[in-house]
Amino acid sequence: MAQNQETKQNPSEPKPCLSGRGITKVFGIGNKATTAVDHVDFDFNEGEFVSIVGESGSGKTTLSKMLLGLISVTEGEVRFQGQPRDISTGAKRREYWKNIQPIFQDPFSSYNMFYKIDAVLDDCLNMRGYRNASKEERTRLKDEACGFVNLKYAELTNKYPFELSGGQMQRLMIARIFLLKPKILMADEPTSMIDACSRATILDMLLKLRDEVNMTVIFITHDIGLAYYISDKVYIMEHGKFVESGPAETVILNPKADYTKRLINDVPKIYEKWDLDTVARK
Ligand SMILES: Nc1ncnc2c1ncn2[C@@H]1O[C@H](COP(=O)(O)OP(=O)(O)O)[C@@H](O)[C@H]1O
Ligand SMILES: [Mg+2]
Repeated sequence: MAQNQETKQNPSEPKPCLSGRGITKVFGIGNKATTAVDHVDFDFNEGEFVSIVGESGSGKTTLSKMLLGLISVTEGEVRFQGQPRDISTGAKRREYWKNIQPIFQDPFSSYNMFYKIDAVLDDCLNMRGYRNASKEERTRLKDEACGFVNLKYAELTNKYPFELSGGQMQRLMIARIFLLKPKILMADEPTSMIDACSRATILDMLLKLRDEVNMTVIFITHDIGLAYYISDKVYIMEHGKFVESGPAETVILNPKADYTKRLINDVPKIYEKWDLDTVARK
């Protein structure tokens, strides 16, 4: 019954892109078992910028790896575009990876050491089905992707990723995403290992992917202040559970859970930029 209602969706209503029901991950067995993610439910919609916020050890990376299909789900169901996700074979998993792509925390570990930048970008074009495109067309696409992240393709072709700065390497990761055009970008603390100046640029580019490519961006962070500025929706994670979720404004300006209040109190400086009236009324 509920399913019928879902299919009769109004086009202006948000369309679920990635959903989870009762998603759980238990590492180890017996009295050594750790429940890293504990029955979480969520609906990430198309074109939405969603942040998952929690302290270190709360289960954010474990959840992102399950959603990427890099580790198994102990219990629960992942749905992609309204259908149960099926990654039971290598071919199905590769198909799924056309739709969801990651950017990790450590830009240095994200690249194959022996691959030049041109080869990194060529791989993306091959994955998108441009294997037989002309050299000119391929160069045009690579040039456009580098332009999207303010890098100059002509200056990069013969370099290795490790010849770039950390911020430039993360921008190159975003250029990859721009070429691959997945439906979902999973960005796990992508700015925590780079300088503050590059950080703002990276955040800007993630927002641009959402705006110009209509990508669903899942942004993982321990920084609730940052989440407030950039997200449409936030999910607050504590000990493997979502303790609170909703529009960023609602959750952060009017937190209900003690844990959310504590996260906010840990970054008092962000109050200065907030609407103090709204905060004071609580
Ligand atoms: N491969 C693993 N084996 C056992 N325990 C793990 C593994 N990966 C993560 N954990 C545990 O799961 C919990 C959540 O970790 P993680 O998902 O990395 O949190 P976060 O990304 O929020 O810092 C932690 O207690 C961590 O020690
Ligand atoms: Mg993590």
